[in-house]
Amino acid sequence: MNVLITGGAGFIGSHVVRLFVKKYPKYRIFNLDALTYAGNLENLKDIEDEENYTFLKADINNIEEVEGLFKKYNFDQVIHLAAESHVDRSIHDPLSFVRTNVIGTMNLLNAAKETWKDNLLDKLFYHISTDEVYGTLGETGLFTETTSYDPNSPYSASKASSDHFVRAYGETYGMPYIISNCSNNYGPNQFPEKLIPLFINNIVDQKPLPVYGDGNYTRDWLYVIDHAKAIDLAFHKGNNKSTYNIGGFNEWKNIDLIKVLCRIMDKKLDRSPGSSEKLITYVKDRPGHDKRYAIDASKINAELGWKPSVTFEEGLGKTVEWYLENDVWLKNVTSGAYQQYYEKQYED
Ligand code: NAD
Ligand code: TYD
Repeated sequence: MNVLITGGAGFIGSHVVRLFVKKYPKYRIFNLDALTYAGNLENLKDIEDEENYTFLKADINNIEEVEGLFKKYNFDQVIHLAAESHVDRSIHDPLSFVRTNVIGTMNLLNAAKETWKDNLLDKLFYHISTDEVYGTLGETGLFTETTSYDPNSPYSASKASSDHFVRAYGETYGMPYIISNCSNNYGPNQFPEKLIPLFINNIVDQKPLPVYGDGNYTRDWLYVIDHAKAIDLAFHKGNNKSTYNIGGFNEWKNIDLIKVLCRIMDKKLDRSPGSSEKLITYVKDRPGHDKRYAIDASKINAELGWKPSVTFEEGLGKTVEWYLENDVWLKNVTSGAYQQYYEKQYED
């Protein structure tokens, strides 16, 4: 079985690739990744020589390249994670999100449709998506699989669009598909533009911690390896044309989470209690900032028996340890272009 995983050099993708390469030695795992600023082969150093693993440097925006790879390797299933994934970047450059997240997904769908047209048996297009497609919640309620789409950022609008195209290919051309919509992930290998690794990096360097708005925004956090395990289950046991919401049952207001992170960092870095909290700086809010995300993951729990295995305390502790032990990784990804991004994003 030839399994194509796109975006496998990124944060979540690298954990999915590792899990599949190690757990399924009989599958041939192909990791297609363009190695944008967010893709990093250092994330996969430990498995790069495995016999069942092949890295393919390619851009999903390039239809000829994508079609050529489908012809050459005859992929049976696709797990599609490649994307532009950061909301703040989507505010500055929405078009690149349309290119990769919408057109890139279309290119994969078209190549799969063409390759699979005479035999759909055992084929699957598994599209990895986000809870942000549902928009924002008030103080109460949870996103379920039937919540209407109502995206607010260019990122979530592009992901919503790609979800719709995957479903449309299922209905129109009979393409077997699964979509999962997951809440905010955290863990090792996350690029330090997202809240948790950005703040870990800034605390290490004793730089300000830029809290958007009043900090009273809520996210539902899930340890990345639990997400990878959910993807494994949905891939193998999920029903065709199904959507699964994946979440941590773990809601935190940003400011409360940041204070917990500050306390963990003070301990790990042997700094006096309260020293990291002093770095908290309230800054201009993100435009169109969604107030609250929270996932009802009861469907994947009831149908596939999935639930998070790592508590937030454990997960956050492991994450901090990983960043402190992998200071070279952190230094490498924060040199060069990162500096320009950081200055532009946080110049005020
Ligand atoms: P990431 O930004 O860390 O990684 C994205 C990967 O895609 C990188 O390796 C990058 O090189 C690759 N890529 C980007 N453009 C490409 C292109 N044109 N062609 C080929 N490869 C390309 O993202 P992530 O956080 O690991 O997210 C992975 C997927 O999961 C995305 O689809 C995202 O929407 C979804 N998701 C993320 C979260 C989260 O909290 N991070 C939550 C739910 C869903
Ligand atoms: P982020 O990690 O960018 O994920 P998402 O926007 O996809 O939820 O942000 C998580 C939350 O943290 C979100 O409410 C925005 C907030 N945030 C800050 O307050 N400061 C920051 O510098 C960043 C990057 C995020």
